Formats: sequence, C-alpha cells, structure tokens
Amino acid sequence: MDERRGSLAAVNAEALTAEALAAIEGAASADELEELHVRYLGRKSALKLALREVRDRETGMALNTARQAIEDAFSAREAALAAVPDDDPSFDPTLPGEAVARGSLHLITQLRRRIEDVFLGMGYTVYDGREVETVWHNFDALNQPEAHPSRDPRDTFYFDERTLLRTHTSPSQIRAMQAQDPPIYLVSLGRTYRRDPLDATHTPVFHQVEGLAVDRGITLADLRGTIELFTSAIFGRREVRMRTSFFPFTEPSVEFDITCYLCDGRGCPVCKHSGWIEMGGAGMVDPNVFEAVGYDPEEWQGFAFGLGIDRIAFLRHGLPDLRLFWDNDLRMTRQF
Ligand code: PHE
Repeated sequence: MDERRGSLAAVNAEALTAEALAAIEGAASADELEELHVRYLGRKSALKLALREVRDRETGMALNTARQAIEDAFSAREAALAAVPDDDPSFDPTLPGEAVARGSLHLITQLRRRIEDVFLGMGYTVYDGREVETVWHNFDALNQPEAHPSRDPRDTFYFDERTLLRTHTSPSQIRAMQAQDPPIYLVSLGRTYRRDPLDATHTPVFHQVEGLAVDRGITLADLRGTIELFTSAIFGRREVRMRTSFFPFTEPSVEFDITCYLCDGRGCPVCKHSGWIEMGGAGMVDPNVFEAVGYDPEEWQGFAFGLGIDRIAFLRHGLPDLRLFWDNDLRMTRQF
C-alpha cells in the first residue's frame, strides 16, 4: 500500500511539474505569473498540501524536486518579463539605443563656476550685483572724476542721466559695503557693458569677476597672495607680476600679469613674445571709496581686483575670435 502511494505521488509530481512549467512559460504578464504562483506554490496548492502530508522519503524527494523545478521556472520567467518593457513583440532589447542629446555648459559659465569654487574654498562669499546700475554706484562712489572719459555716452550705455548698464563689476563692491559691515570677503561675477565696436577682440557685452576683501590690517601682500592662489588654481602654478597702474577707486593701483601658460615665459604668439599675460587690475581700496559707503578708512583696509572672464577663456583655449562666445553655434559649445 505504502509503495503504491509513493509511486502515485511521484507520477503526480512529474505531471504537476510539466503542467506548471508549461503554464509559467505561457504567462504573458507579471500579474498572470503571480496568479500561477498562487495556484502552483501557494499555501493551498496541491503541491504544498502534498508536502505537508508526506510520510516517506521517496515521495518527499519527488515533491521537493517538483517544487524546485517550478520555483526555478518562476524566477526565469519573471526575469524574462522584466526585461521587456512593454507588450510590443517587435521590441528587440539587443538593438543599439538611440543617442540621447546631452547639453553642455557654455565655456564662460564653466569658468565662472570654477572661479566661484576657488574663492568659496578660500572662505569668500559670492555676491550678486546688478547689471542696471546708478551712475553713482558705477562712477561717483568709486571716486571716478566727473570728467573721466569712461563716463562718455560714446563709451557707456545710458538709460537716462542717472542710470546705465554697468561698465564693470566694481559697483558690486559699493552695494555689498552698503549692505553689510566689515569684515567682507566676496567675489561678484557677471555681465558688463561697454560701447565697443564688435570685432574679434571686443564685444559690447562681456563678463568680469570682482574681488573685495575688507578687514583690519590688510596689505598689498595679502592681495598678491590671493591673486597667486587664484591664478594657480585656474592656470596651474605661475609666477605673478604686478605693475603700478592707476584706478580711481584703488590706491596704490596695480595691473597683474602671470607668466604665459603656453610657453612658460619663454615668449610665444599668445603672450606676444613678452612671456607675460595680462590678467587684470587691482589695488588697495581708496579711502574715498570707504567714505562713500560710510566705513572708517582709519579702521578698515581692503583690497579689490577685477578681471575679464571672456578674455581669460579666450586666451586659455587659444580661440581666434571673441564673437564665438555669442554665435550660439553648438559645435563651439560642445567642444568644452
Ligand atoms: N574695474 C576695473 C576695470 O574694469 C578693474 C579693477 C577692479 C581694478 C578692482 C582695480 C580694482 O578695469
């Protein structure tokens, strides 16, 4: 009797396996597969009931073999269904996909962000100035004499007598100092405007970065060290040279150069055979500027610097024409 039951169960197990495998193979969706799972492996399935009742080793082994085979079939079918994202039988997951067009940041945006990162790393904040400025912020508060040529409407875009498109980022210094008490360590980056004729080396819109540090006991040596850190972060380790210069809002004023990154100072077409590349202007904040914003020049010292971002990107990548930045030609943008 025992023998008969055992052999019967074995036959049943085989038949059950064959039936279950065929059904699983035919399942067309995850839902259908789930239903079959309940039917063949659920708590009340014939197989689970039989397993619970099993008394002899041989039957137990047969039923377990069946259970294993059915479970494997479920896993395989589940994976196969997951690999097909929809019911479309023509979908071939082995075909190469369509290229997804990816954008890239404009070279100037990239350089802007790098400069910001360098200064954020030194503990500076990034200050947003404004592009439409008052004549007072752009010129007067910066100690610019009434008769200075840069005030000329042939050089500057005016809206009216009191408002203009800023000609440099230096008015951001004034706004920041009006808004907060020292100490201040900030950079301000953005668009600036001058009525230059459009050609390979001039665009009426360009970008500058302005730096301002105001604290007690700041010296020209701090300015130099800051410029060295900044330029070496962007260009790699270079020598910095300062030449005396003049700006109404700094005293003393300097222009700073770095050794040419292309020829390392030996002389080449990029540095016009001088070995040096002009970077920008800088100096110690003029006491008149501190007075314009209500800071006591006896108590506070500071340095400021400013330079053109477009020019640096242009030189850095050896571009032939500044207008490439504005042409919206993706072949240009995609290179960087
Ligand atoms: N604003 C000056 C320019 O546009 C640059 C500068 C900034 C010089 C700060 C000195 C200090 O040329």
